[in-house]
Amino acid sequence: MPSVCFVCLGNICRSPMAQAVFEHLISKRGIDDDWTVDSAGTGAWHVGEPPDPRTLKVLSKHQINTDQVARSVHDSDFAAFDYLLAMDEDNLRVLQDRAPASCDAEINLLGDYDPEGRGEVPDPYYGGPDGFDNVYAMVSRCCESFLEANAD
Ligand code: 4NP
Repeated sequence: MPSVCFVCLGNICRSPMAQAVFEHLISKRGIDDDWTVDSAGTGAWHVGEPPDPRTLKVLSKHQINTDQVARSVHDSDFAAFDYLLAMDEDNLRVLQDRAPASCDAEINLLGDYDPEGRGEVPDPYYGGPDGFDNVYAMVSRCCESFLEANAD
């Protein structure tokens, strides 16, 4: 069973959005039982909190729900997941630095799967609502192509 954990800084804006979008995609295709999906943050400031209201608003605009509660990356995640997909280069570097030598997980940018070209999912936290729509558009096309890359 393939498994993926989406990773950003706070686990309240981008990675819970990516998790919810990916869960929605696999649910629409009836393959949600085939996957383990989660998200986490490299920082711990927001642990225990629901996603940012701006993330929830964008998701609800697209009829997508989430019950994610923010958590930080655990050492066990490096063994538990096949894919750790970071939103930006900072998150990626933290994961690569923390990964044990024995780590079999593929650690990459989610934006490696962007059909419009490799890039970071920009941090929308200090910006306006447009930033969250932009994150949604990017994680949607990346999640679609990540799923295609893992289709049997
Ligand atoms: P995220 O966004 O990494 O996409 O969840 C952020 C959330 C919180 C903060 C920064 C980015 N913060 O500085 O608290």
